[in-house]
Amino acid sequence: MSRLPSDYPDQVRAAASYITRICPHTPLLALQLGTGLDGLAKQMDIEHVIPYADIPHFPESTVESHQGALLIGSIGSSRIIVLSGRLHYYEGYSTSEITLPIRVLQTVGVKRLILTNAAGGLNPLFKPGTIMVIRDHLNFLGENPLRGVNVAEWGPRFPDLSEPYDPAMIKMMLDSADASGVDRVVTGIYVCIPGPSLETPAETRWLRESGADAVGMSTVPEVIVANHASMKVLGLSLVSNLNDPDNFQPILLEDIIAEGRRAADRLAKLMLEFISRLED
Ligand code: HPA
Repeated sequence: MSRLPSDYPDQVRAAASYITRICPHTPLLALQLGTGLDGLAKQMDIEHVIPYADIPHFPESTVESHQGALLIGSIGSSRIIVLSGRLHYYEGYSTSEITLPIRVLQTVGVKRLILTNAAGGLNPLFKPGTIMVIRDHLNFLGENPLRGVNVAEWGPRFPDLSEPYDPAMIKMMLDSADASGVDRVVTGIYVCIPGPSLETPAETRWLRESGADAVGMSTVPEVIVANHASMKVLGLSLVSNLNDPDNFQPILLEDIIAEGRRAADRLAKLMLEFISRLED
């Protein structure tokens, strides 16, 4: 179940004012880094590292592979705020807890959000190392972060999701791949499952038939809230393993993290090109 606690808006305001006291400038872009993808932060000139534990009401990640800090700084001339480490539904958090950082970004004035994740490939044309620019998603969590009283100052009761991922940012990312020579960049549909157990072969077959190209345990709650907040959203899945229902192989966290490391340079190159194209 996901219902906003009555003091949720106050929690968001308190967290946002803690951050704006440290950094009063509105960042051009926010970036959330998924499992094994924190190497992207190496591209930044970091001015502030704020552990989630220091930010009032910020939930902390219980997953060892996630750092749990807000990084503020710049890439080139662009001011960036990075959520390094995210929360997951499988950790026991409600989707409104998971998305509190997105509300905080909204409150500090962020208008563009890029979310990254590691995902299992369902599309048989994908390979480990494929970078999928998310074109659309399926929410198979069984929970929606907007359930409950709508906070009208944050967005509408029934937000439109006809374009949950900004078409202009998708195009800019594909152009950035061409311009920077980063190969194996495709578009596709991401499905979010609750986890933490991985999929069975039968579930994998069913997810493929549902139209999904990649499967993971994150991102969708944040995308729903960011759309409610009228942010422009882009999602990137690094395909870390290929799930073939007819030849199913064990899916291991070590392999997922290792694939993230292998792709770090390609992802960084892509992101640097993309950020250089962003206008204020
Ligand atoms: N399934 C779910 N989540 C994942 C996978 C997967 O195969 N790979 C990386 N994250």
